[in-house]
Amino acid sequence: MTVPPTPAPDVQALFKASMSALASGVAVVTGTAADGSPRGLTVTSIASYSAHPPSVIVCVDETCNSYAALTTGSHFAAHLLHAAQADVAKLFASSATDKFDQVSWTRWDDRLPVLNDMLGVVVCRRISTTVLGDHAIVVGEVVDGSMREGQPLVYWRRGFYEGPGIATESG
Ligand SMILES: Cc1cc2nc3c(=O)[nH]c(=O)nc-3n(C[C@H](O)[C@H](O)[C@H](O)COP(=O)(O)O)c2cc1C
Repeated sequence: MTVPPTPAPDVQALFKASMSALASGVAVVTGTAADGSPRGLTVTSIASYSAHPPSVIVCVDETCNSYAALTTGSHFAAHLLHAAQADVAKLFASSATDKFDQVSWTRWDDRLPVLNDMLGVVVCRRISTTVLGDHAIVVGEVVDGSMREGQPLVYWRRGFYEGPGIATESG
């Protein structure tokens, strides 16, 4: 039997299709701009980096308004969203300039914006920024945070879903 030749793959399409099949947790990463104002964006590029020291990695597009705050600021906060917070994910994935007027937040150490009512928060001291192509890879050492039980928000095939876990009254 003759096997028909496989068409040359469209690598961009393959990349998008395969990455969209990867179910990810969703985080909002916040930082402080040089003038002290809060910045933040939704990411799925967050991951645990090492346990010693406890650290996380996040990748930030150079075109984001939050780029300078996250790549040069001393600290950032990564907020793990719970299943009922797709609206927060959409807000921080938008180009709105009033994101922080639409959520409840406080300042950690009188400077870093930290969102309230999250599934988890890790406050990080930025220890490394590597610019590679049109993104920066930022590594932060976890210095503070909080965590509670609940279902995480999951992003899969361009949609938001409830992740596994035991449902709680607050989601
Ligand atoms: C589910 C999802 C995941 C995203 N992940 C990232 C990411 O890992 N890194 C990134 O730079 N942008 C990511 N984005 C895009 C930013 O959230 C978006 O560009 C945002 O408008 C940036 O906000 P800013 O310009 O106020 O910083 C993601 C968007 C969505 C919807």
